[in-house]
Amino acid sequence: MEGFIDIHSHILPGIDDGSDSLETTIEMLQIAWEEGIRTMIATPHYREGRLETPTEHLLELYRQVVAEAQKIDSSFQIYLGNELYSSYNLAEHLDAERAHSLNGTRYILVEFSPSKTYSEMRMAFRSLQMSGYRPILAHAERYECLVEESSRVTELINSGIYIQLNTSSITGDNGFRTRMFARNLLKHEEVHFVATDAHNSDSRSPRFQKCMAYIEKKYGSKYADRLGRENALRVLKDAPVKSWW
Ligand SMILES: [Fe+2]
Repeated sequence: MEGFIDIHSHILPGIDDGSDSLETTIEMLQIAWEEGIRTMIATPHYREGRLETPTEHLLELYRQVVAEAQKIDSSFQIYLGNELYSSYNLAEHLDAERAHSLNGTRYILVEFSPSKTYSEMRMAFRSLQMSGYRPILAHAERYECLVEESSRVTELINSGIYIQLNTSSITGDNGFRTRMFARNLLKHEEVHFVATDAHNSDSRSPRFQKCMAYIEKKYGSKYADRLGRENALRVLKDAPVKSWW
């Protein structure tokens, strides 16, 4: 399988805890290409007051990475966004274009502190939605409040939130409990995107094949394609992603 779209990656060099150099970025791009990924959204961390990269600098790095991807193949597409750490003024930062949505669309990739309570999460999402954004919860398998009560994921989806899982969590690289939770969400079709959340070229590299092979074998190629490509394509176009299928 190929043609995957990775909506969550830390491939821009020297900006967050992701790629530490252009050399690492090039290695990550090569791995991604070999894994069948044909489009990536670079989503460096954005955290109010802690990690706010000026847009000019972000664009400069982005152009460098686009040029490197083009050297691998002229069809290799890179887009820009942020992984946004939830904070009180996040919508204002987005409106002011200090923080970035995915490819300039209404879709935003949002993360929380792993210990965030469920009610705090709901309130933060509600405020972002009221500002016109469509939040995607990054690596949903990482939040204790959801792992301990998985019906909350159903509630989130019913309230218009989209769910992203990391490929490594589905394949079991992040422990048994995480894998169980992630696979259970897959089984109940409570996942909209799988993505790499790649940070480097070794321990957290951009892997897709193994995860996709699992989903395809267990649930068929249509489901795998929806989670690894089709829904992400809709995001890039700012088109609606169905909550339930
Ligand atoms: Fe991330």
